[in-house]
Amino acid sequence: MSNHTYPLIIGVSGASGLIYAVRALKFLLEADYQIELVASRSTHMVWQSEQNIRMPAETAAQEQFWRDQAGVSNSGQLHCHPWSDVGAGIASGSFRTLGMIVMPCSMSTVAKLAVGLSSDLLERAADVQLKEGRKLVIVPRETPFSLIHLRNLTALAEAGVRVVPAIPAWYHQPQTIEDLVDFVVARALDQLDIDCIPIQRWQGHR
Ligand SMILES: Cc1cc2nc3c(=O)[nH]c(=O)nc-3n(C[C@H](O)[C@H](O)[C@H](O)COP(=O)(O)O)c2cc1C
Repeated sequence: MSNHTYPLIIGVSGASGLIYAVRALKFLLEADYQIELVASRSTHMVWQSEQNIRMPAETAAQEQFWRDQAGVSNSGQLHCHPWSDVGAGIASGSFRTLGMIVMPCSMSTVAKLAVGLSSDLLERAADVQLKEGRKLVIVPRETPFSLIHLRNLTALAEAGVRVVPAIPAWYHQPQTIEDLVDFVVARALDQLDIDCIPIQRWQGHR
C-alpha cells in the first residue's frame, strides 16, 4: 500500500524523448508513488518512430506496457487513462493530486495549455492543476524554439508553471544516456519536492 497521500499525474505528450517518462515512472513506482498516467494520441506515433513499438490503447494493457518499459513489475500504483477520456477522475478539481508533470511536453501541448484549451484528457488535467493552484511542471522538448514557443512558455511560467526543459547538465560526468535523462527527470521532480532519483548533485568544487 502506498504511503503517499495523493496520486501524481504524469502526462506524456508527443514530443521526442519518451525515455523521460519511462525513467520518471521507474523511479516513482519504485518509491511507491500512485501514478495517474495519460499519454496523448500522438504518443502512439512517437513510440512507433522512436522504438518501433506499438503502445496499446486499452488501459490494462497500457499499464503493463509502461511497467515493462520501466522495468517495474509490482511496486507503486499505476492507473492509465485513454487520451480521449475527459470524464476521468483527473479531469476534475475535486480529485486531489500531488500535482502534475508533463514529460516530454510538445510545443502543441505548450500552446494549448497557454490558452487554456482542453481538447484531450492531458490538457484538461493540466488545466485543472492550474485552476486549483496545484503544481504543474512541464519538460518541453523542441529545438530551436520559435518566438511563438517562447511566448507560450513565458505565458505558462507567468501562470506559475515550472518549466524544466529537457536540457541535461554535464558537470555530474554522465556516462550513459540514462545518466543524462535521469538528471533532467530529477530536476523536474525537484520542482514537486519529490526526491527519489539518486543523481550526483553538485556539492561545490572538491
Ligand atoms: C517522431 C516524432 C517526434 C516528434 N518530436 C517532437 C518534439 O520533440 N517536440 C514537439 O514539440 N513536437 C514533436 N513532434 C510533433 C508532435 O507529436 C505533434 O505536434 C503532435 O500534434 C503533438 O500532439 P500532443 O501535444 O497532443 O501530443 C514529434 C512527432 C513525431 C512523430
